[in-house]
Amino acid sequence: MLNFEHTFMDFLLEHQERHNRTYHFLILMNSLLNAAKRIQYYYLTGALRGNLGLAGSVNVQGENVLKMDEIANEVVKHYLSRSGRVIQIVSEEEEEPVLMNIDGGRYFVYYDPMDGSSNVPHNLPIGFLFGVAKRNLEGPEDLHLRSGREYIAAGMFVIPTGTFTIALRQAGCWRFHIDEIMNYVKPTQMTLPDDRKSWEISYNSANRETYARGLQGWLAVNEKKYAFRYLGALAGDFHRILTNGGLFMYPAIVNHPDPKKNKPQGKLRLMYEAAVTAFMCCEAGGLAIDENGRDILDLVPEKPHQRTALYLGSKQLIQEVLEVLTKKP
Ligand code: AHG
Ligand code: MN
Ligand code: MN
Repeated sequence: MLNFEHTFMDFLLEHQERHNRTYHFLILMNSLLNAAKRIQYYYLTGALRGNLGLAGSVNVQGENVLKMDEIANEVVKHYLSRSGRVIQIVSEEEEEPVLMNIDGGRYFVYYDPMDGSSNVPHNLPIGFLFGVAKRNLEGPEDLHLRSGREYIAAGMFVIPTGTFTIALRQAGCWRFHIDEIMNYVKPTQMTLPDDRKSWEISYNSANRETYARGLQGWLAVNEKKYAFRYLGALAGDFHRILTNGGLFMYPAIVNHPDPKKNKPQGKLRLMYEAAVTAFMCCEAGGLAIDENGRDILDLVPEKPHQRTALYLGSKQLIQEVLEVLTKKP
């Protein structure tokens, strides 16, 4: 029995037509799809070609760069630049924002070309995360770094497992699966489930004693109610939360035995990790906050690689965490 599924491009064409939108966004999305497929290919063959190791350099965040980080970044840059629709990018692997098409570009793209680097040497799942915001089309463009509130779309490819999840502003969060000819097919709308039975909790438990005391207290009482899952790649961990509900968090490190190792800003990057997943989570009926209980989407970046603590997931759980985080001692 032949089965012809609805592709992501079918879905997007219909969406654009229904909302009377331009074709520019289609061109942009096509370039992101091309990039994801290329990364998928390089990742699948990475072990064979010796591409899973270190590149020998250190990035702007002080982290060792892998060959795959570099390859993925080059791939994304190439396709975005070629689209002609991008005014400026912020990439995890580029120290400064990179200008592309200053005259004709309509979109800002903020991306992490390879998220979950600790999985790379094992060829286990990683992510390609991106957020898209529009330039000012009415007046002069000041190139300010956009908050998640200004994103019009945000998505993630989980590689090489072959899923793609994208949220479009006020149009929901949708998941697609790769088929045998590398099309992403079968749109399924993602809505965080209300039933606590499937909820999961996801965080690096090795850091637990470094969290704020109130949060540690909350964990001691509540975490046993949920299944614990942690892959170590935000894209993969959040992928599960979107399906099953629950909480992903990367809290501030404030009680490290070596105070120099505290990270009050957490680890994850606002523009291309936290705001991207927060945008998707909100379109799926969830919520995302930082250590001070502020909505992640309201945080306006002051610098491209700004970090933030992140709590992401089902509204009820975020509300519980918000109470302990903001409770006066
Ligand atoms: P990246 O590989 O882009 O640097 O990001 C890794 C991030 C994120 O994917 C994951 O949630 C987190 O780091 C894991 O950190 P720990 O190893 O500290 O748990
Ligand atoms: Mn990352
Ligand atoms: Mn990365």
